[in-house]
Amino acid sequence: MKNILTKIYFKYAGHIFSLLPWLLNFIPPRTLVVEASNMCVLNCPACTTVNLSKRAKGKMSFGVFKILLDGIDWKPKQINFSFAGEPLLNHELFKMIRYAKDKGIDSVVETNGMLLSGCIDELLDSGIYKLNIAFDGISQENISKYRRGMDFNVLLSAIRQLVATRARRNLRRPKVHLQFIVMKHNQDYIDRAIEMAKELEVDAIDFKSMIISVGLGFNREARQKHALEYLPDLEEFLRYKQIEGEWQLKENYRGFCTQVLSDAVIMWNGDVTVCSMDVQGDLVVGNILKSPLRKIWVSNKYSDLRQRILKRQLESCGDCGYLLGIFKSVKVKN
Ligand SMILES: C[S@@+](CC[C@H](N)C(=O)[O-])C[C@H]1O[C@@H](n2cnc3c(N)ncnc32)[C@H](O)[C@@H]1O
Ligand code: SF4
Repeated sequence: MKNILTKIYFKYAGHIFSLLPWLLNFIPPRTLVVEASNMCVLNCPACTTVNLSKRAKGKMSFGVFKILLDGIDWKPKQINFSFAGEPLLNHELFKMIRYAKDKGIDSVVETNGMLLSGCIDELLDSGIYKLNIAFDGISQENISKYRRGMDFNVLLSAIRQLVATRARRNLRRPKVHLQFIVMKHNQDYIDRAIEMAKELEVDAIDFKSMIISVGLGFNREARQKHALEYLPDLEEFLRYKQIEGEWQLKENYRGFCTQVLSDAVIMWNGDVTVCSMDVQGDLVVGNILKSPLRKIWVSNKYSDLRQRILKRQLESCGDCGYLLGIFKSVKVKN
């Protein structure tokens, strides 16, 4: 019933809020996307972090996070600690997750797993709700075609250690999901990856389609090069198609952007942007060190941009694959 109501809400919400944007003053964001760090230990070629050119690098301090949470007067459904960068590089991450948990807010983290083995007890102590671990290859050679710098044995051993410690401590959380971006070099190993997920005794493996457009700042040549090198042939995992030699989104931006109604993004330095694809910070509308998030959420600047996005007037939205994010989750554990 709840799912049906949510579907109905998002079906009509775009129409309603594009006509009456002030209504959102009463509906603060359900999800906070918090950038724990915009730095990384890996070098994945079509990642926004690696291609980040316009923003300074850094990590959010616990002080900034506390100002954010102490300044909100509603209860968000969850905090997602992944925007750009590798969250585990932030040594105060688990303190933030615990602080949120004590306020009744669940946290989700996406990680490349390279630093995981060093913080397993701390992670389990934090009360984290879900961990997504990058796993888009079935061997060292295969995975490092995209995850440049990754050590596959370190990854496997960290996952095993996490799952075993969670079991030993008799904990149900976090849910542990592997995350597999389907690309040219790994598309033939989907079944093998599911087998490995079973062997590793994680909860699920999620298959996701690749992005080569918005947020990356690629020019035509770079987009072409990455498309040829990485896009798979499997139609069900392709967001793009070639039209007269150019890689374009399969379907144009259609429907309303639901994330602009439900998510607020807070970058490591407190800047707030309206779009969870705006990794370069082109759409920053305020900073939580200067005013609380709710005030920014209802500000004219935020409302104007939100309305332009809902009315499909923003140029970058035309190239955004957010709504077409093909996603298939395979549960491997009961
Ligand atoms: C910027 S990463 C940050 C989290 C972490 N470092 C990681 O790799 O999982 C955020 C998410 O983007 C995914 N990602 C990286 N490159 C991508 C691409 N070209 N298309 C779609 N997703 C991508 C990552 O797998 C991760 O789920
Ligand atoms: S590990 Fe994550 S943040 Fe780091 S380069 Fe790869 S996708 Fe980007």
